[in-house]
Amino acid sequence: MKEIRELFTEQGVSQLLNWYRANRRALPWRQTRDPYHIWLSEIMLQQTRVEAVKPYYARFLEACPTIEALAQLPAERLMKLWEGLGYYSRARNLQKAAQTVVAQYGGQLPASYEELLGLCGIGEYTAGAIASIAFGIRVPAIDGNVLRVLARLQGSFEDITQPAVKKAWREALGAVIPEAAGDFTQAMIELGATVCGPNGEPKCAACPFTSACVAAKEHLTDALPVRAAKKARRVEQKTVLLIRDGDRTALHKRPDCGLLAGLFELPNVEGHLDADALPAYLRSIGFEPLRIERLEDSKHIFSHIEWHMIAYDVRITAEFDGFHGGSGMYLVRNEDLHANYAIPSAFAAYKRYL
Ligand code: ADE
Repeated sequence: MKEIRELFTEQGVSQLLNWYRANRRALPWRQTRDPYHIWLSEIMLQQTRVEAVKPYYARFLEACPTIEALAQLPAERLMKLWEGLGYYSRARNLQKAAQTVVAQYGGQLPASYEELLGLCGIGEYTAGAIASIAFGIRVPAIDGNVLRVLARLQGSFEDITQPAVKKAWREALGAVIPEAAGDFTQAMIELGATVCGPNGEPKCAACPFTSACVAAKEHLTDALPVRAAKKARRVEQKTVLLIRDGDRTALHKRPDCGLLAGLFELPNVEGHLDADALPAYLRSIGFEPLRIERLEDSKHIFSHIEWHMIAYDVRITAEFDGFHGGSGMYLVRNEDLHANYAIPSAFAAYKRYL
């Protein structure tokens, strides 16, 4: 096994950059350094092929030429522009992030890896890609394709699905990024896409690293990368609370990013709480419990997560009406709840009591 710093020497990096500059595909998002355009391309390219993205990218920018325009686009237009690309939460997150950029950054994406990371839908890879390609910041952008390239170059049998492996390689790669950070990021992407691909024989003769690559030398390109079997879903234990008085029920608004983003839910806490622990918790969020009854348990299965829920029916007197700022709870009349609030089906077992 070789280390990243032994591969990405000054000479190795300059061979990679020369190779990229001579062989890159002319893609629409490579004709620009506009951060918005680069951001949009990176979001569209997640889980989607380059050829499929091209027409969507052009149409989207025509309909929505600025971040302000995206922030204000009606939701149905947004969905229409994304129709056929799939993974629609990408589009919803993109728009939420655009609204944040308008509200907090004057409509310009921040030139900072950490601040990019704080925006909806921008994870480590995407923040690294935008920061390096649009702003020339020397941070790595490591997706599954780059992990494959790094595993083969090093001859590493480490499991690339392990966060610790990615973290170690991020740090090592971060230390060798040249001044031309954007070209470096794109070169690594291009190498993974056009030379060191996931299926079939890689085109080692065309690779700028061919004499240094451990997998090429030791005929390991078939065996690498090592990827552990798909993980079982993560199980989360929750205690769901049906908190109500005569005709109102407490709802909580979920955060704007992530699972069930922005939806109203029945209040719930991590873990399976004992009934004895409940009154103190309820008081802390503004409710005085009058009676607490255990309801049946239930399960809900998402693609990556399982919720194992226990639940309590809590009768209360409330010290507030409407919205309770401190706890983020809303007291909503039951008829209003049924007519106007889309409670996620994960709570179906308990919603039927209302
Ligand atoms: N996949 C992810 N980012 C890409 C980019 N900038 N160019 C080509 N393919 C990509």
